[in-house]
Amino acid sequence: MNYKSSLQILNLPEDSLILVVDDTTTNLEIVFNILTNFGFKVATENDGARAIKQAENRLPDLILLDVMMPGLDGFETCQRLKENLATCDIPVIFMTANSDTDSKVKGLNIGAVDYITKPFHEEELLARIKTHLQLRNLTKTLEKRVAERTAALSRVLKDLQESQLQLVQTEKMSALGQLVAGVAHEINNPVGFIHGNLGHASVYFQDMINLIDLYQQHYPNPVPEIQEEIAAIDLKYMLSDLPNLISSMKEGVQRIRNISTSLRTFSRADSDRKVYCNIHDGIDSTIMILKHRLKASEDRPEIQIIRDYDNFPDLECFIGQLNQVFMNLLANAIDALEESNIGRTYIEIEANPNQILIQTTLAENNNHILIRIKDNGVGMSADVQQKIFEYLFTTKPVGQGTGLGLSIARQIVVEKHEGTLEVNSALGKGSEFIIKLPITSLY
Ligand SMILES: Nc1ncnc2c1ncn2[C@@H]1O[C@H](COP(=O)(O)OP(=O)(O)OP(=O)(O)O)[C@@H](O)[C@H]1O
Ligand SMILES: [Mg+2]
Repeated sequence: MNYKSSLQILNLPEDSLILVVDDTTTNLEIVFNILTNFGFKVATENDGARAIKQAENRLPDLILLDVMMPGLDGFETCQRLKENLATCDIPVIFMTANSDTDSKVKGLNIGAVDYITKPFHEEELLARIKTHLQLRNLTKTLEKRVAERTAALSRVLKDLQESQLQLVQTEKMSALGQLVAGVAHEINNPVGFIHGNLGHASVYFQDMINLIDLYQQHYPNPVPEIQEEIAAIDLKYMLSDLPNLISSMKEGVQRIRNISTSLRTFSRADSDRKVYCNIHDGIDSTIMILKHRLKASEDRPEIQIIRDYDNFPDLECFIGQLNQVFMNLLANAIDALEESNIGRTYIEIEANPNQILIQTTLAENNNHILIRIKDNGVGMSADVQQKIFEYLFTTKPVGQGTGLGLSIARQIVVEKHEGTLEVNSALGKGSEFIIKLPITSLY
């Protein structure tokens, strides 16, 4: 037979525990019998101090408390229970003499939920206890639900912030990517034909030089007008300088072609799945794009970039997104170096130059690579380090920083590539960011 206990019928937990505190043993016995017969678990104590200890050790669901007791009386006991974080939520019901109105009021004032008068009426005692246990149970359920809802809402908020970040990142990337790809494309065509024609031009010039040589061999004494022209244009120097001119033009064009290739590598449209890419090409193309910020100025020499690249295979990744991480970390390093230059003269900076070290290594397990980007700029306090990956956290003035760079970087490394992004820094000593990435994607 499916038998339901009295407690189940009332929707109360089977192990509901009631602590009864009274210095009169007879009272304890009466209440103990009534409650255990009903199905409650009951603990008893005959003084206030012990009751508090007992309540702390094993939290009861309800306390029945006698008012008049030697030592700690009921009021004092109740007050201490209410002051203690662990026990303050346990409902307390006072047991008072029927005529004692003052005690009833005082008890309710110091936090008791109800009172029961002596001598006890079984029905009344049970009715009040049931009501307060049910109330307590409902409150607990409600608190649990509120906590669950709050957690769910916080999760939704976090998801929302992350998708906002993703949107910003995609927008930033696609706007920048499109611009860069467009510029690279526009440069590429004219540079392409200068490069092609320079080849022909150098052959033509060589032919012409040969022809002039031939003329000079066969007609060593031309008419005076030609001799004057040869002297005026300094033909000898011109002929010796022309090859240099052509080769420096070739060199210049080659540099523009490299820049244009870097721009295209950097802005390479990301496919929707990861592909195997050379990380070092990504870093180099990012440095090329930031070149204008590294160049020497009136106030400081060039920022030195020290590359220390290890040998490892291509990485399965979204290279466009990783380039954005390198871009954010390098831009931050340059900002930190600029900040450290404030108040230092050119000579002082030259003696202790601005440096960014970019080091890549294969991690011991051979499944991961480490990329360290280390600057000797202003560094960060422990307090700032705690917050740098937070959405919108910035220490830069309005207009100079949005506080998105590192949270985007963290998201790309951790969520998109199952990697880690860590920082080591000390105020005045510089900062080091360490990216750890798996060589082969897990997903
Ligand atoms: N290399 C670094 N050296 C010192 N402080 C740094 C460095 N990198 C980041 N920080 C600190 O972390 C903060 C957050 O960096 P984050 O890149 O997220 O935002 P931001 O650079 O301020 O703005 P932006 O959105 O333009 O990147 C910076 O404001 C700065 O205080
Ligand atoms: Mg930044």
